[in-house]
Amino acid sequence: MEIKKSRKNTFLYLEIAQKIESQIYDGVLATGDKLPSVRILKNEYGVSVSTILQAYYHLESKSLVEPRPRSGYYVVFCSENRPEDPEKTNPKQNAVLGSVTDMIIDFYHHLSNKSLVNLSLGVPSAELLPIAKLNKTMHETIIKLPAGGTYYDNIEGSENLRRQIAQRTLLWGGNLVESDIVITAGCTNALLLALMAVTKAGDTIVVESPVFFGILQLANTLKLRVIELPTDPNYGLDIGALKNLLKVKEINAIVLIPNFSNPTGSLMPDEHKKEIVSIIQQHQIPLIEDDICGEIYYGKKRPSTCKLYDDSGLVMWLGSFSKTLAGGYRIGWIAPGRFKSDIMKLKLYLSSSTTTIQQEAIAGFLSTGRYDYHLRNLRHTFHANSLKYIRAIGDYFPKDTLVSKPKGSFFLWVELNKKIKTKTLYERAKKCNVIFMPGDIFTLQDQYHNCMRLSYAMEWSDEIENGLKKLGSLAKEMM
Ligand SMILES: Cc1ncc(COP(=O)(O)O)c(C=O)c1O
Repeated sequence: MEIKKSRKNTFLYLEIAQKIESQIYDGVLATGDKLPSVRILKNEYGVSVSTILQAYYHLESKSLVEPRPRSGYYVVFCSENRPEDPEKTNPKQNAVLGSVTDMIIDFYHHLSNKSLVNLSLGVPSAELLPIAKLNKTMHETIIKLPAGGTYYDNIEGSENLRRQIAQRTLLWGGNLVESDIVITAGCTNALLLALMAVTKAGDTIVVESPVFFGILQLANTLKLRVIELPTDPNYGLDIGALKNLLKVKEINAIVLIPNFSNPTGSLMPDEHKKEIVSIIQQHQIPLIEDDICGEIYYGKKRPSTCKLYDDSGLVMWLGSFSKTLAGGYRIGWIAPGRFKSDIMKLKLYLSSSTTTIQQEAIAGFLSTGRYDYHLRNLRHTFHANSLKYIRAIGDYFPKDTLVSKPKGSFFLWVELNKKIKTKTLYERAKKCNVIFMPGDIFTLQDQYHNCMRLSYAMEWSDEIENGLKKLGSLAKEMM
């Protein structure tokens, strides 16, 4: 079937779906309302029946509408039941040295347990990945490479892969070239190299709060003090708080996840990115920009990066293929700006080269356009999942529950009534075969005990609906 594009070069069916979607969110179309018939809309927009049907299928896949036999499409999404957003966080701004290790080990222990409803997944589940195509590419790669790829690659990493990553920077307005990029063993390794290049034991770094626990663990390993700053679940780091802190405290590095942070899903607006870059330039502080989920956006275009606004080389831009393609391949990258020679030395000493076959296989996969096709599906699935989860939380969780509304990636930050300790809830839910990540793990301070991160990185199913229902009823029992 041919899919028509509009004059604005977006798909016509998507434009129509988006108009209906915004009417649903604004409450103009309420639960139970019947949507106009396909025939009426077809005449209204001057398009084909199949375009309107596609728009309705799209809305259905997001759980916003449902078809009723011989009657048409009806709105099922209830904006009234929709949980509110959490408030901006308010952590104490002390420089803290500490660790959250124990619980993390528990989660890794459960990774392969298939009998659990696993709402703690940090990567897409296998059914959402193009495994067969990846296998094929891997096979072709081994055959093509000299000596089957058994040799050490050069320290910077595969030229093919670095070129592919550099080309993709065009999507956010960047113009990096392959020599700007160094391949790493995933984003964790990129974070480690970046922190080691610009800090020493006893230094202080600034992060968002709540923050991805991996950053806290690396800081602890390197004996760095961490200051957590107030963060808005929609817009990310509070820039005013950063400015105030810099008046009174010397900071050695800032680590941010501006695009779809882990765990809140916040998206820093472009104006804020620009401002952060001008602040770090003024104070000469390196910024480590973890952009691991930048390509998993639900909107029309990929969000930009701080790197885009930096002409000083102080921003190190990091990413990996763990959240989109294959976490187990352990392939990530860093565009280290002015710190390239330090990063290269550290990489040489710590790990030498990166695995040859995986790098070339990903480069091959990217060069065919299969990656973009896969990403389109992944974004759609995650967006639809986010709406389904938010609907289920509205239906099953205590009424005062607050939930973030991410515009990308696959995590929800959920804030429950203060009486509910999510570590206790975790132990109870585990006995019912449901696991998630309690809020305590995303901070070094005494906070977020009533919060949790829920992952929606897998196909929606009745098991997930029931898992969320169970979690909601256990939470209600703790009120
Ligand atoms: C924000 C963020 N950075 C880095 C990582 C680590 O990524 P990788 O698996 O590529 O090392 C993760 C994974 O959970 C993450 O969420």
